[in-house]
Amino acid sequence: MKIAIAGLGYVGLSNAVLLAQHNEVVGIDLNAAKVAMLNARQSPIEDAELEDYLAHKPLNLRATLDKVDAYTGADFVIIATPTDYDPQTNYFNTRSIESVVADVTAINPQAVMVIKSTVPVGYTAKLREQYCRQAVIPSSNAVIPDSKAVIPGSNAVIPDSEVVIPDSIRDPWIADQVRNDSMSSNDGNSNNSSNSNDSLSSHPSPSIIFSPEFLREGHALYDNLHPSRIVIGEISVRAQTFARLLQQGAVKQNIYVLFTNSTEAEAIKLFANTYLAMRVAYFNELDSFAATHGLDTKQMIKGVCLDPRIGSYYNNPSFGYGGYCLPKDTKQLLANYDHVPQTLMQAIVDSNSTRKDFIAADILKKLAQSKEMGSAIPGSKAVIPDPKDVIPDPKDVIPDSKAVIPDSIRDPWIADQVRNDSMRGHDSISANNSTSATKPPVVGIYRLVMKAGSDNYRASSIQGIMKRIKAKGVEVIVYEPVLKEPHFFNSRVVNDLQKFIKEADVIVANRITKDLQGVADKVYTRDLFGQD
Ligand SMILES: NC(=O)c1ccc[n+]([C@@H]2O[C@H](COP(=O)([O-])OP(=O)(O)OC[C@H]3O[C@@H](n4cnc5c(N)ncnc54)[C@H](O)[C@@H]3O)[C@@H](O)[C@H]2O)c1
Repeated sequence: MKIAIAGLGYVGLSNAVLLAQHNEVVGIDLNAAKVAMLNARQSPIEDAELEDYLAHKPLNLRATLDKVDAYTGADFVIIATPTDYDPQTNYFNTRSIESVVADVTAINPQAVMVIKSTVPVGYTAKLREQYCRQAVIPSSNAVIPDSKAVIPGSNAVIPDSEVVIPDSIRDPWIADQVRNDSMSSNDGNSNNSSNSNDSLSSHPSPSIIFSPEFLREGHALYDNLHPSRIVIGEISVRAQTFARLLQQGAVKQNIYVLFTNSTEAEAIKLFANTYLAMRVAYFNELDSFAATHGLDTKQMIKGVCLDPRIGSYYNNPSFGYGGYCLPKDTKQLLANYDHVPQTLMQAIVDSNSTRKDFIAADILKKLAQSKEMGSAIPGSKAVIPDPKDVIPDPKDVIPDSKAVIPDSIRDPWIADQVRNDSMRGHDSISANNSTSATKPPVVGIYRLVMKAGSDNYRASSIQGIMKRIKAKGVEVIVYEPVLKEPHFFNSRVVNDLQKFIKEADVIVANRITKDLQGVADKVYTRDLFGQD
């Protein structure tokens, strides 16, 4: 069986390696560097299992930039291209998927396309309808690969004479659907050639299936080797064949496979991610409450989560949910709620901004305290003084014409702090700093990535914090070894860790690592449990 995979990112790469254990897999990407790396058996992303499998496992895998080479003769084409949220349209931008579908339709209309990218609810049905209307693909093009030919020697083969319902299909209705589909496809017409009289009668051509992907970045291949579940958005033999390909490559046994309609499968993906975002937002707001009232968040979370219905996991406070998927998927689900009453979905989306506002304000307080007291504030991670106690009324401050207030400082209160320092004529900056009294305050961002072990910072929540702090005119510097450029959105990148620590008055870290041992008093974090 030949499988082409369009898009060699987290989703495409992990599926490519999983499937290349038992099939011929050709990956295609627009990015020549990724293609070259994969052909050299190097992982373009940081992922322990991917690196290990590429280096040590026998894989029938290659990559190309040439779509004719990739798609010609492929039985399945997996689409794993980006679907970024477009704030103009309030919807995912799905153009990359459509361009792959158009290419595959032109080059190899026999192929079954499986969309693994996350899409809006109802997208696949509309895409199929659109292709049917355009009559781009004749209805006979749907291909049901002969199941015996598909997985040679595998016990996952469906014998011609009898229909085997996998144990994983526990829903009797789904089992019936699969049985009916299998029987209709085993009516003597089903082989590797076209079959218009098969289970696809209820899924007219073109051959597009949606199957959500649930992997986590940093564990992309692991999560495909040990999937929590496999969901295929079609109830058909070809859907079953595809599920078996995924099962065949997995290490985990007895994987729950769920066959649904395409729109339900799309909704499953967006509702699952929105639930995860809600959980992050919930514990973050618990933490905002605790911090505001000087309570111990850790005790509260432990006490709440000991209820087994809640569970002691995925509850570590952070600066907000981030990464590529949660921010965009929650917004897309909210957009899909158009005309459906809701308050929760909006709240989940809004909560992330509210949290970032809170964190940014809290960091500025810590910064002011560190400047005012001449050193960072021990214990200030948990106890946040009432701003009224700390912030002088600007009216009480006598401007000193000699004080140098950099133009960049737009927050009057921070400006006042600098002015006061200057009036006092002594260096009130942290003991770790030897710079002059008028040294403007500096916030250091320790890592842009969301979590330790991650190699990308797409939509990481700390960037929202940076923006808010910079909007107040405070200088922000960045320590991020993944960055090679000297600046990140006009902020200096200081990748010499000791220099970074020395220069920053407050170090902001979404997650604590051993790099920051010894400077804990300078660090602002909400990481309570030292895990993601
Ligand atoms: N990253 C995740 O954790 C994750 C998890 C589940 C689902 N998803 C979804 O899967 C999709 C892909 O995510 P990702 O993180 O793997 O993306 P990615 O950005 O890591 O990789 C996408 C790749 O597609 C390539 N590409 C773009 N257009 C192309 C085209 N026309 N033909 C061939 N290649 C093309 C890009 O060059 C890039 O290498 C998105 O819809 C995402 O929402 C991602």
